Amino acid sequence: MIKLNSKDKNDFKVVFASNDLVETNNFLKDTKGNIFLSTKDNTIYVKLNSKTDDKRREFIKAFTSLVKQNISNVDIEFDTFVKGYADVDFTEELMFNALVETLSYVSHQPFTFKKEEVKPTDFEYNIVTSNKKLDDEFIKEVIKTDFTNYARDLQDTPPNIATSEWIAKTIEQDAKNFKNVKLKVLGIHEAEKLGMGLFLAVNAGSEIEPKVVVAEYNGAPEKQKTVLVGKGITFDSGGYNLKPSSAMVGMKFDMSGAAIMLSTVFALAKANAKVNVAAVGMFTDNRIGGHATLTESVVKSMNGLTVQIDNTDAEGRLVLADGMTYAVRELQADRIIEASTLTGAMVVALGHLATGGFTKSEELWKEMDAAQAYTGERVWRMPIYNEHLELMQATPIADLTNTGSRAAGAGSSTAAAFLNEFAEGKPFMHLDIAGTADNGERGTGVMVKTLFEMLNK
Ligand code: BES
Ligand code: MG
Ligand code: ZN
Repeated sequence: MIKLNSKDKNDFKVVFASNDLVETNNFLKDTKGNIFLSTKDNTIYVKLNSKTDDKRREFIKAFTSLVKQNISNVDIEFDTFVKGYADVDFTEELMFNALVETLSYVSHQPFTFKKEEVKPTDFEYNIVTSNKKLDDEFIKEVIKTDFTNYARDLQDTPPNIATSEWIAKTIEQDAKNFKNVKLKVLGIHEAEKLGMGLFLAVNAGSEIEPKVVVAEYNGAPEKQKTVLVGKGITFDSGGYNLKPSSAMVGMKFDMSGAAIMLSTVFALAKANAKVNVAAVGMFTDNRIGGHATLTESVVKSMNGLTVQIDNTDAEGRLVLADGMTYAVRELQADRIIEASTLTGAMVVALGHLATGGFTKSEELWKEMDAAQAYTGERVWRMPIYNEHLELMQATPIADLTNTGSRAAGAGSSTAAAFLNEFAEGKPFMHLDIAGTADNGERGTGVMVKTLFEMLNK
């Protein structure tokens, strides 16, 4: 439980301590030995290294450690941290956001199916500050973190439970909490009627119905409409291009893009943001089976382009292409932002440290760049060159193939070039979250807060 300026005092105070705080036996070092917590006089001294060039990271590490050590209900004397640690790169506002976000992220109680419940104590974290301006900031932060955690829970739900049908039903149910969100779920018949051939080709091997989940929130009718499209592969086996066992690990997280996009719309609606936005989640699994799509099949997309499916494991771009056409034609998007765990090549390039951002629009990039600098959730710009598109056109049989050549490399950029063909001239940004959507164990809800900040203008 996170509070701001609550009147009831807690047992422990948390205060800033500088580099020269002398260590005694009372110190609790964290496992890496870089955070120091002293429990003298019912006070927890958080010793922060002010010589680091990344104060935000140091600060987040310290409070992560504090929550994980699960000590007590605490009053966090925020002013002491501002006085001792804030600077031009890490302002009071950024520090406050980092604090609320870290407390919420680390203390979030993820569900478990374990027989013996080992729930950590739900301690109270009361932030004490003299800055009255932070009241509004706090409300916004709680919304951002709540919906980051909402996305994380969707991500973590096992794939035998979180099927396309279950997720659609869950989100439809949860959308009832919002008077200002219009929610629509399309099933297989609507997808057929719309001509979503690529989406259906990915679903062909499954006995579970594919679902397109559309959430619309219009808090500013006069403004341009941004549509967020998300990859919702509830499990990616690879299809006939079956993944080897080691590469199938974590493929329940292949629906993360759709989860974060829908969560972002919920968050913006909850905050009554002045924005015109919608999210489209493209949910299906990708399996083998008697009816599953064969390689070299040629399929027509919703916008009329033909695609040769040279690799059934490059399924994300297929479902997304039809989702983007839906955004343009049915939702009248003025611009599109799309997020997906799209390529293993992205993990090779940036590891788990940054999301790849691909766009030909300087305008969109400028907005994203400002938002990622503000939240600290890194997005690194990657290229889409015409050569990347040419690689995706290298088939005599269809307009596009769904895989570039292995020899040419640049697998993340060729995927982005493929998607860019479905934007129909609208400003478009692709976010490859393959490396950032999960931490190997659990979903991270990556990009919810950054998209929130980018759009809440
Ligand atoms: N879902 C995967 C990408 C992925 C890999 C996400 C690792 C997270 C971690 C995607 O559908 C995929 O299989 N991509 C292929 C594309 C290839 C066949 C062109 C890949 O990256 O190998
Ligand atoms: Mg795949
Ligand atoms: Zn996939």
